Amino acid sequence: MAGKILVVGSLHLDVIVHSSRLPKPDETLLGDNVSYRFGGKGGNQAVAAAKIDVQVFMAGRIGTDNFGKQIYDTLSNQNINLDGLKMVDEATGMSVALIGSDGIYCAVVVSGANQTIDLSEIAVPDDLTVLVLQNEINTDANFEIIKKVPKSTFIILNAAPALTPNKDFFERIDLLVVNQLEAKMLLNEEPSIFNNLDALRKLQNLGPKEVIITMGADGYTGISKNGEIFSEPGIKVDVLSTHGAGDSFVGTLAAFICKGEPINIAAQYAQASSALHVKTPIDQREKILQADIENMFSLNQ
Ligand code: RIB
Repeated sequence: MAGKILVVGSLHLDVIVHSSRLPKPDETLLGDNVSYRFGGKGGNQAVAAAKIDVQVFMAGRIGTDNFGKQIYDTLSNQNINLDGLKMVDEATGMSVALIGSDGIYCAVVVSGANQTIDLSEIAVPDDLTVLVLQNEINTDANFEIIKKVPKSTFIILNAAPALTPNKDFFERIDLLVVNQLEAKMLLNEEPSIFNNLDALRKLQNLGPKEVIITMGADGYTGISKNGEIFSEPGIKVDVLSTHGAGDSFVGTLAAFICKGEPINIAAQYAQASSALHVKTPIDQREKILQADIENMFSLNQ
């Protein structure tokens, strides 16, 4: 297998409630249905990366409760090394997402066990190729892990949710991936004056060598370390649910970078993976294979 990826990140049990619309303040609304799903940006990204022929390692924390058991069962059925996964005496992290029939989505995360990650217990695999981080675990853990990996390790930060940028941390990031909302928050910009090209350069000035801004159905745009701009429009598919689509983008991107693809090509594989993700029913997504992603990539050349 080509290369090793370590994902240090969040693991949640997602409670997903569908209703005709989102409730107003003070309102109690009757929902249509609820599902309980494996989630957390870290976990979703590790699962997406593990579809590709690279070695994936996941470090995270879950509780000893039923939610933790469900997460453990899902992860242990993937091709992921779980030596860095520990159970602690805290509630497993969770997210409650509300999705209206118009597709409008909102969510609240309660981090619980995710905040207890202690890096002294995390072994960094030898010759680690790619490290993947997000912002759903304690910030100190992210700041520390970048000091523990080899200098040659390519570090991807998916700055979700967006936090105030830290210069020393950002300067060690090879690739920053954000959506437009996170880009606006990192740059403290008014939505009305937001411009993607301008934002890419400003984000690069914060420290990361390369940046990608994802734009959902409109595709993505990025800037390489040499200042070259690359972008692709969205792949047109019938969308069933966008839940976790950004994570499938980041996980696949990390895997193809790990396999040695240049960033602009890895991003095209990532977009192919997200397109398949959103058009596939949630309970069928685990059946999406590397061959399906490569096929979707080829169809869009
Ligand atoms: O990106 C989607 C994920 O964000 C969900 O799985 C939820 O748990 C939150 O972490």
